[in-house]
Amino acid sequence: MDIQRLTAARQGSESLLLRDEELTQTWQDFQLSSMPDLLSALHLCHAVHALAESGLLQRLRDGVEEDLLDGLNQRIASNLLRYLVLKGVLEEWQGTFRLTRRGALLTSEISLARLGFYLEAYGPVVQRAGDLVTGRAVYGTDVRRSNGPLSRHCGTVFAKYYTPIVLEAMRDRGAKRILDLGCGAGQLLVDVCLNDPEITGVGLDIAPAAVETARDLARRHGLEHRLEFVVADAFDPATWPPVCSGAEIITSIGVLHEHFRDGNKAVVEILNTYADVLVGEVMLLIGEPEPFYDDRENDSEFFLMHVLTDQGFPVDRATWFSIFAQTRLTCRQTLTWANAGPRMCFYDLTLKR
Ligand SMILES: C[S@@+](CC[C@H](N)C(=O)[O-])C[C@H]1O[C@@H](n2cnc3c(N)ncnc32)[C@H](O)[C@@H]1O
Repeated sequence: MDIQRLTAARQGSESLLLRDEELTQTWQDFQLSSMPDLLSALHLCHAVHALAESGLLQRLRDGVEEDLLDGLNQRIASNLLRYLVLKGVLEEWQGTFRLTRRGALLTSEISLARLGFYLEAYGPVVQRAGDLVTGRAVYGTDVRRSNGPLSRHCGTVFAKYYTPIVLEAMRDRGAKRILDLGCGAGQLLVDVCLNDPEITGVGLDIAPAAVETARDLARRHGLEHRLEFVVADAFDPATWPPVCSGAEIITSIGVLHEHFRDGNKAVVEILNTYADVLVGEVMLLIGEPEPFYDDRENDSEFFLMHVLTDQGFPVDRATWFSIFAQTRLTCRQTLTWANAGPRMCFYDLTLKR
């Protein structure tokens, strides 16, 4: 170390300014590494999540001023607001806070759903990445994603981008009864019913919590007479309750790719099991993430979630087609959004003739 003593203005006591080339270089390297920006993004994600979760966001949207911090830890809440002002999420004027334009975009329905997906649903997994890599913890035993928030946040995004695709596919076939395998929080079924008063359906999921949430959602929309939800294994049609029969369209969105963990053959076998229940013109509509394995639109984050949860990885369209070719199903058409929504492709499958 080669410390230089630089002269500094003397104001009462002596002020020494020190300089060392090596330490300066190391600090500059840290700045250039982009780590400061990453830390900032990490904390901002948590702070925005806290803003929404604490109810403060809704109060800000409602224009609450006086009672903004009612019922909260006043000191922490007020300082969190100050932090968000520093970050350009809020603006403060004469003691009142409002969302900035950036704040409004960061707290849009889609932004919060994406945030909740990574922070709430998969946060418990990412925090244990080191343990998972070393084997000190095992996914599914010691570490689990949070299924409630997963269904909820997926539901928000899926409702916007996938419901129109399912409606399009149903209209095309004149289908009125739908069976949704791995229905999660039931958002798709509810939205489809709200869009067409003649549609009825059944949602099936292995997670009792998801089924409960779905039933509640249907009740809140007055759809309990048109929609039923059951706990069952989507991959074992022989165990499905009788209410699952009679569907004119069977959907399964974001569920099947987990089985790539057991190899392509496992997925071929599941699809062939579905072929057994596809009588007549019944259509199977599979919606699966379409990864490009690049670093755009959080594709790499999505990949990491699959790595850490030891799931099978989503595969590209060509691989899906090679899989369909090994089944008794054929793909009539694919449906995707050109430039909107998560990268997802829908495959409209029927029995091979
Ligand atoms: C990524 S989420 C997709 C949820 C829903 N399809 C949607 O689009 O919002 C996957 C869902 O599949 C369910 N699932 C996983 N394995 C299943 C199985 N063997 N049988 C039924 N559901 C299953 C999970 O509980 C979860 O709700």
